[in-house]
Amino acid sequence: MHAGKLNDETRMKKGILHHLSTIFEQAVALAFPDIVDILVPVAPSSRPQFGDYQCNAAMPISNALKNRGIKIDPMNVASKILEYLKTDNVVEKVDVVAPGFLNIWVSKAICKERIFDLILNGIQPPPLDKVKTVVVDFSSPNIAKEMHVGHLRSTIIGDSICRLLEFMGHDVLRINHVGDWGTQFGMLIAHLKEKFPDYLTKSPPIHDLQSFYKESKSRFDSDSDFKSKAYACVIKLQNLDPEYMKAWNLICDVSRKEFQKIYNRLDIVIEERGESFYQRHMVELVRDLETRGFLEYDEGRKVMFGLEADAIPLTIVKSDGGFTYDTSDLAAIQYRIQQDHATWIIYVTDAGQATHFKVIQSCAEKAGILNRSLVKVVHVGFGVVLGEDKKKFKTRSGETVKLQHLLDEGLRRAEEKLKEKNRHTVLTQEELDSAKEAIAYGCIKYADLSHNRINDYVFSFDAMLEDKGNTAVYLLYAYTRIRSIVRNAGIDIKQLNKVAECGDLTISHDREWKLIKVLVRFTDTILKVVESLSLHHLCEYVYEIATTFSEFYDVCYCIEKNEAGEIVKIDMGRMLLCEATARTIEKCLNILGIRTVTRM
Ligand SMILES: *[C@@H]1O[C@H](CO)[C@@H](O)[C@H](O)[C@H]1NC(C)=O
Repeated sequence: MHAGKLNDETRMKKGILHHLSTIFEQAVALAFPDIVDILVPVAPSSRPQFGDYQCNAAMPISNALKNRGIKIDPMNVASKILEYLKTDNVVEKVDVVAPGFLNIWVSKAICKERIFDLILNGIQPPPLDKVKTVVVDFSSPNIAKEMHVGHLRSTIIGDSICRLLEFMGHDVLRINHVGDWGTQFGMLIAHLKEKFPDYLTKSPPIHDLQSFYKESKSRFDSDSDFKSKAYACVIKLQNLDPEYMKAWNLICDVSRKEFQKIYNRLDIVIEERGESFYQRHMVELVRDLETRGFLEYDEGRKVMFGLEADAIPLTIVKSDGGFTYDTSDLAAIQYRIQQDHATWIIYVTDAGQATHFKVIQSCAEKAGILNRSLVKVVHVGFGVVLGEDKKKFKTRSGETVKLQHLLDEGLRRAEEKLKEKNRHTVLTQEELDSAKEAIAYGCIKYADLSHNRINDYVFSFDAMLEDKGNTAVYLLYAYTRIRSIVRNAGIDIKQLNKVAECGDLTISHDREWKLIKVLVRFTDTILKVVESLSLHHLCEYVYEIATTFSEFYDVCYCIEKNEAGEIVKIDMGRMLLCEATARTIEKCLNILGIRTVTRM
């Protein structure tokens, strides 16, 4: 096709920023070969008069040279970088300006090519150097307990990370490491056996697993006879006694159905592989660790120290012979590496568990299970959900907020909001329902993802349901509006493809160019999010697209109508930009796990 452009295209597939960073790094390396470890920051510039991008490597380089007794001012450093810069048809012009900035203008033709590519071939992920098998361990509620707000962040962030890595083209295993194998099951089974002796033939009425759990817990705490029965049940269960397995399965099934309702509502796909899954592997692992002399005795327990001898050890076997979270997490990492052949393992849990996973990794490394040059292990930590009083999010009566109730409340609030805007008079019931769900679940997810995950964040329906500012509601409205522009103009995709094929896009206004520049940053943004596993970068980006589009649409007429309201002129280039914007927003929202609707 365009033979001359092929080279640039291949190089550019990783994004313009990536490309610019590469050529500027090369220039710095040639201009100042003695300077190492200096970052060469290239970023989109804040104002058009400073170019499209800016590189400010000159100041830090000048400082580094000064420390070595070489005096070159930043202006001269910048000029020297420019001298060595291998320009190509991506870079149109570079200016050196005081006190030492390099202002970069990029080729409009190249950026337009990328927009045409997006129209003709759809949104493509950046090229992948190597497909990885990624295990993402997220959500992980406890069987017999209801999912509460504490599970929200792991579920939302974990799902979004999976969507991102799937889009990149990795093989992703979404794993739900549910708590299904602890002491509490002895207690539950002992209670079940007494209350429903014929549970083996009839399904017991434990629909309300929560109160069932509470009853058995209070017996466990007050009745020592019951307590020893419970312990006996755990041993039976861990020896896989069929009758006890049946009781346990019953309990798990009830729970599982409840979890699934939540996952369905939130469009979460996840595969259950709880602690119990590793029972056999734990037995083998412990035997192996023991033979190889990795276990030490400590007051009746068997513990294992990692490579850092001063860190807390893992408790591999308790004094009563039972296993712990440590044992199942170690068995799980072994299984994931040896059986799943994972080359990337991601744990999505609260930040408080960072140390635990460090010790797990360290012990796995020591035992020869994990080789860090072959397998990347990342703990994706996050802060706490706070109430509007800035304290841990609780119900009015001080209880943990159940996820089911939170989602119901979201739906109610979303519906209220739609009715406030009189949308129920315009939309069909079906449209109203879809809009309500998209808004409710979308705003809960977006409020979580748009904050830097490391920080705590305040959960506020009022704030997240605002239709102005960086919220899901604003983005969903923006998206449906952009879609409707193209739809109402009666343009179909074939016509847009033709425009793209002919390269028929004139940039006649600054705001068109600004929009194009934002859109072509998609690839760079995706790569940044993959690198940091911080979804707020993607949220900031999609919000920037929406606001930039709004600035564009305010002044750039896409359709001209006469006084009778009939369409007299359609600007096909701008239609193409609308379509490209809608697709990019849609892809971002899709990665964030947010459903879009055609009308709302
Ligand atoms: C880890 O893997 C690398 C690459 O295959 C290998 O060179 C190294 O020896 C391995 N390390 C250990 C401790 O096995």
